Amino acid sequence: MDPLSPLRARTITLVGLMGVGKTSVGKRLAVALGLPFRDADVEVETAAGRSIPDIFADLGEAAFREGERRVIARLLDEPPHVLATGGGAFMNAETRSLIKSRSISIWLRADVEVLARRVGRKDNRPLLTGKDPLVVLRELAEIRYPIYAEADIVVESGDTPHHVSVENVLKALSAYLEIPET
Ligand code: S3P
Repeated sequence: MDPLSPLRARTITLVGLMGVGKTSVGKRLAVALGLPFRDADVEVETAAGRSIPDIFADLGEAAFREGERRVIARLLDEPPHVLATGGGAFMNAETRSLIKSRSISIWLRADVEVLARRVGRKDNRPLLTGKDPLVVLRELAEIRYPIYAEADIVVESGDTPHHVSVENVLKALSAYLEIPET
């Protein structure tokens, strides 16, 4: 039997703060497992027909959150895949409970200093626009880390290169599912 097949039985959902690498690690994880990859942020943009900064600017954060909730519920109905979520998605109680019941959830965790360096000066995250990323990320971490900790698995993804994080995720998944490592 293919030793990775137990890891393909359920959707794997990545949660965590902006900049931690949910998309980069998720794409590589999907390739390693031979699963499709979905990015909730991209799906929300497609559904809304505009970018996330434009959704926030034109429709407001509440509309973005509502779209995010609907999109993730739809994605979790799809066959198993690797799902990268936006940093706020797991904070919604309904979304969190769907993620927990329909997938294996993994919190990619890193210290905020590392994340602040990673998000850099890119202007594609409305919550950070015009603000000091370290200050915003610290505030978000204080509120969100206790909730992210409800994920099934926590994988440290600090200054780790993405391919190493993928290996760490695979190891953590094998341990969680109690299957021998390959
Ligand atoms: C957000 C994170 C972003 C995106 C939106 C809001 C958040 O996704 O969904 O800008 O609330 O943390 P990433 O975590 O992929 O950057």
